[in-house]
Amino acid sequence: MLPRAAAATVLRAAATDEKLALYGGPKVRGTPFPSWPIVGSNDEQAWMTVLRKGRWNRTAGNYTQQFEERWARIIGAKYCLATANGTAALIVALNALDIGPGDEVIVPPYTFNATINAVLMQHALPVFVDSDPETFQIDAGKIEAAITKRTACIMPVHLGGNAADMDTILAVAKKHNVPVLEDACQAHLAEWKGRKVSGLGDLGCFSFQASKNLNSGEGGAVLTNNEDLIHRARGFHNNGNPYGSPFAYSGAGCNLRMTDFQGALLLEQLTRLEAQSQIRARNANHLTGQLKEIEGITPARQYEGCTRNAYHLYMFRYNREHFHNAPKPLFLKALAAEGIPCYGGYTPLNKSTALASTLNGKAYRYIYSAKELADLNDRNHCPKNDQLCEEGVWIPQTALLADTESMDHIAQAIRKIQKQSAKLLG
Ligand SMILES: Cc1ncc(COP(=O)(O)O)c(C=O)c1O
Repeated sequence: MLPRAAAATVLRAAATDEKLALYGGPKVRGTPFPSWPIVGSNDEQAWMTVLRKGRWNRTAGNYTQQFEERWARIIGAKYCLATANGTAALIVALNALDIGPGDEVIVPPYTFNATINAVLMQHALPVFVDSDPETFQIDAGKIEAAITKRTACIMPVHLGGNAADMDTILAVAKKHNVPVLEDACQAHLAEWKGRKVSGLGDLGCFSFQASKNLNSGEGGAVLTNNEDLIHRARGFHNNGNPYGSPFAYSGAGCNLRMTDFQGALLLEQLTRLEAQSQIRARNANHLTGQLKEIEGITPARQYEGCTRNAYHLYMFRYNREHFHNAPKPLFLKALAAEGIPCYGGYTPLNKSTALASTLNGKAYRYIYSAKELADLNDRNHCPKNDQLCEEGVWIPQTALLADTESMDHIAQAIRKIQKQSAKLLG
């Protein structure tokens, strides 16, 4: 009889010889990965309490305020303000910093639209700094070269739950006296040198949108240690009325408040976040151990300072040269057919036609000269990011909530596709 390890290798080899599921063969993974969200009886109870109480909006002492206090404590920040969603949190934070027309905001090109939409809503200029393809984060070493006298904010994104290089970012920000707004919308509980991200810069923002590791359907939060900034943030998100003086109009703002249904769900979902995050990290580490053995597959690296990865996304790069040159969309199709949830990630935001048309639109042409807009276009080349967008692949956080054997299925499916990749083109 073969020893266990040898038997497993034989089995693995056999399964990779089976016909690709894309062409009618058996799937490597026949059962679904965990669904999301996970709902407990505590969620139901809290939701019904809000419903029956009849105070569905934000009021003093209710669930939303309790959540703010608890989330601030977890992050290690003095203040937390709950908002309607993550985009709203970013807009509130930028307004608290008084970012507006004429200002430049440094952003990564590998992020969700909302990061730059928040900047565009202020009619400020998004200045893109290239990505570090190894980590999928902004290349912090290139930020200083992008700073001008107009730079009003550096906005790193902790993409996928991995952490951006905060030591370098904070040092550059300090040297040039520019505030840092962390977009931590994907990074619940991620840490840099033992401190939670979003609590390191001047302000940090979260999203609690349905796909996020902490979820209330929609929702967001602004974190800060600065009393003046939280005062301004509270006022802006409450139509210009700072708390304590409901009818004292103190300036422009918006209604970006969270409902108490969201607050109640967040407080209850929070009871499971730590345990779920530990499962994701354990499984992600196991998966990395397997994937790094496959030629042409490179899991995202963490900077040394990233002491905790929240794994909102499991990210890796796909090099088609090791798969008989099969294009990434075909690889993704084959992987999905084997029963593995996967996505192709972002396209280059800096090159998007939507951005170009906004910058060519009425407001921008009114505020900025044609030369200023052309110069911005010249500065916004990010060749490393172009390559990253070609190669990046994501596996969603929900898959990481499965068991260790499920991680083996992911690796096995990739091995199977690689072994038969010559057939993918045929
Ligand atoms: C990096 C990033 N920033 C901002 C947002 C915006 O959050 P929301 O969808 O809650 O408005 C998201 C959410 O998808 C995100 O992933």
